[in-house]
Amino acid sequence: MTTSTGLSSGTTLPPFITYQQDQLMLEGVSLDRLTQEHGTPLFVYSRAAMLHALSAYQRGLAGRQHLICYAMKANSSLAILHTLVQAGCGLDIVSGGELERAMAVGVDPGKIIFSGVGKTRAEMRQALEVGIGCFNVESRAELDVLDEVARGMGVRAAVSVRVNPNVDAQTHPYISTGLKGNKFGIAHEDVLSTYQHAAQCQGLRVVGIDCHIGSQITQTGPYLDAMDRVLDLVQNIEAAGVRIEHIDFGGGLGIDYQGDNPPQADALWSALLQRLDARGFGDRKIFIEPGRSLVGNAGVCLTEVLYLKPGEQKNFLIVDAAMNDLPRPAMYQAFHRIVPVSPRANAAPMTWDVVGPVCESGDWIGRDRELAVQSGDRLAVLSAGAYCMSMASNYNTRGRAAEVLVDGNQAHLIRARESTADQTRLERLP
Ligand code: LLP
Repeated sequence: MTTSTGLSSGTTLPPFITYQQDQLMLEGVSLDRLTQEHGTPLFVYSRAAMLHALSAYQRGLAGRQHLICYAMKANSSLAILHTLVQAGCGLDIVSGGELERAMAVGVDPGKIIFSGVGKTRAEMRQALEVGIGCFNVESRAELDVLDEVARGMGVRAAVSVRVNPNVDAQTHPYISTGLKGNKFGIAHEDVLSTYQHAAQCQGLRVVGIDCHIGSQITQTGPYLDAMDRVLDLVQNIEAAGVRIEHIDFGGGLGIDYQGDNPPQADALWSALLQRLDARGFGDRKIFIEPGRSLVGNAGVCLTEVLYLKPGEQKNFLIVDAAMNDLPRPAMYQAFHRIVPVSPRANAAPMTWDVVGPVCESGDWIGRDRELAVQSGDRLAVLSAGAYCMSMASNYNTRGRAAEVLVDGNQAHLIRARESTADQTRLERLP
């Protein structure tokens, strides 16, 4: 069943995306107009949608000392960072490159936290030079190197130890991070001794504790379990005389890709704060590191239908976006809704596999989709604000897409389309 807009019945659109006079709009901007101006593939983001998503966290944490550090790996384009930083966010970074992007948008370095299992000495120095707020340390070996680097610079690095709470976030195995078999964090049973050690290090200053159990989490239970595990540790650590000023619960809250029904950020935090208060830790500063839930449903990827290729077993719709632009289906069998930008009223839909031009069978964007389309039509791949552009590659020497940020009825080009010259700039013949 399709509706007059060409949408399969039951398809819902994320906030700020609507059909008006049979034209797909993001806020007040026609997406068809943007494809004419900027070509395809094209990522388009809504400022209002990002701020709307952020406001749910702000409501949930209102009245508490807190810091929302946007996990910029989800989408590190400067204009996106700038939007969230202007709205009060700190940033969660995982590399020296992300640190430079963070500094480029003028974030207060005290509001930067540095996560990741493999920080190099050079990255540690770089972060200490600008004076970041906290290192989330993931191993005893890393702790010792950080101590040495900081002492060498005559400073003390603020540290938090990332705990692996061994809880199942019940999400895709590639994006589950809080289980014993994962490379992340320090095992529960080794955390106390790690803090006792850190407290003795001249180059370190213990400030917090953190955990992050996975991504695209759609239930409250795993968060509550992780909180309990972390608070048990805080009790033990403080009993041993080391004060924990802030507790960082990571990111991971899921979004609706395909009828998923994750808790709203404010409802999640009301449940978590209740537990925090009940356990007597309501006075602690709370840090969080949301990525996907701030930007995922604020973005779409627009693509043009190149060819219709009906076949005996499968009908293929070949579009000009590919796995280099939208890597999530190929990597995680992820689902993104795909809808027409200018629906064809009364055209009969067919079932299509929507695929890109890259020379891999894994290059698909959506399977078995009901769409009424012809070549030259534009489609919008929804929920493409997170982990798409930031994971894009140049595979098949495809330039990365352009990006536009919409604000009301204004549209700003925030990244020009990458040329082949941009791609080959660093290459030399022998
Ligand atoms: N904090 C840490 C330490 C993380 O490793 C991550 C994500 C986040 C915060 C943010 O998580 P979020 O709120 O975005 O779920 N590429 C995958 C997702 C990888 C997530 C990696 N870590 C995907 O496209 O589904």
